[in-house]
Amino acid sequence: MKVAVIGTGYVGLTTAVSLAMKGHEVLGIDVDAAKIEQLSNGRSPIYEPGLDQVLLEMLGQSKIRFSTKLLEAKEAQVVFVCVGTPEAADGEADLSYLHAALQDIASLHEHSPVERIVVIKSTVPVGTGDWAADSLRRCNQLHVVSNPEFLREGCALEDALNPSRIIVGADSEEAVAVMQTLYSGLSAPWVITTRANAELIKYASNAYLAARISFMNELARLSTVLGTDVTVVSHGMGLDSRIGPQFLRAGVGYGGSCFPKDTIALLKLANQHGVTLGLLEKVREVNASQPVWFIEQLAQKIPDLSGKRIAVLGLAFKPDTDDIREAPALRILAALQAAGAVVSAYDPIAAKAVAALFPDAEYVTAPEAAFVGAYAAVLVTEWQECVKLDWKLIKEQMERPLLFDGRNAWPGDELKKAGFEYQGVGRS
Ligand code: UDX
Repeated sequence: MKVAVIGTGYVGLTTAVSLAMKGHEVLGIDVDAAKIEQLSNGRSPIYEPGLDQVLLEMLGQSKIRFSTKLLEAKEAQVVFVCVGTPEAADGEADLSYLHAALQDIASLHEHSPVERIVVIKSTVPVGTGDWAADSLRRCNQLHVVSNPEFLREGCALEDALNPSRIIVGADSEEAVAVMQTLYSGLSAPWVITTRANAELIKYASNAYLAARISFMNELARLSTVLGTDVTVVSHGMGLDSRIGPQFLRAGVGYGGSCFPKDTIALLKLANQHGVTLGLLEKVREVNASQPVWFIEQLAQKIPDLSGKRIAVLGLAFKPDTDDIREAPALRILAALQAAGAVVSAYDPIAAKAVAALFPDAEYVTAPEAAFVGAYAAVLVTEWQECVKLDWKLIKEQMERPLLFDGRNAWPGDELKKAGFEYQGVGRS
């Protein structure tokens, strides 16, 4: 099929490349001309494992191309909307990019009025798909479908090719049939429903996953005073098939482009309809205070952090991404610097972006270098490079061998035996 994808961020680019891999002819659209040029030369503007290589292959096979002009997609049977819906100042989703995309689609339709499916993949407040269908009603051959994505950064391509489920919100059988043809190679359960249900499934999924994390983070605080081990507790809980093991890892809190933004957008949406989601409010509160709580634990060990060198390992909001949006590392760096600590930080990809926000920290190019002369080291993001380390060398280089493992990813027992002081999150 001929497909256009508006927006070439994480979601749009991954969607475009995965559809090309499935044999469709894809045109990726973005307003950013520099980005389009970069993509046309086979270079991904985002760090996502495997994406660069597949992008080059698809360009080589002429399965994908890029442009700033949607009007080049005259023959497209399907137009995906994958633009950002960032958090506006009031916490609501900012839909200005979506509105611009819909206008472009209406112009395309005027030039080439063919039967076409508009697929909204961007995360949008409940009711947006219906509103879009209304606003495009004059273009009577357009069908609007809500098809939320569940891609995780770091394994987005794998998730696009092996989705856990395909959610399609539509009000026409023709639209559903086109979506079935489009995704015919994918094996996943389908939920065919209304656009509003599809939109809420997306918000609810992210809010629920965020809630599991905050629940475990609160339990970690309790574990710290009880002398229990939250990693053993989560393992025991996760064996219950009603609970399952995923997203029960306590740590320094969740970050990223989705959980923080989608939870606030859902709260705002509920408020607008006179409903209070008290549980979700608490989920966000716990997440905001988790990095602060963690650094308070460190401050109990080193009451005066002033002038003390502290190593910070990992800055991206999670491993295998260069994304620092809402990364817990930002709160941790702010807390350490406010206490007067000298920070030496390492991240394999995200250091440059963080350096722009925290120019006073020192950024090293090898993980072990961050530990030199440090009074403590904090693991914030569990990159493999930050977990598999030469501990013998590190022990010799640290001023005080104090390890604060914000992801419970360092081998605590071994490290204690090797003479380190080790503190994880919620571990006795
Ligand atoms: C998330 C959703 O998983 C995905 O379905 C959605 O489409 C976009 O948002 P992503 O933001 O890429 O994906 O990352 P994810 O793997 O979900 O992790 C989010 C945050 O939660 C990270 O900061 C991670 O470190 C943290 N996390 C995750 C925990 O603290 N504990 C866990 O057990 C799991």
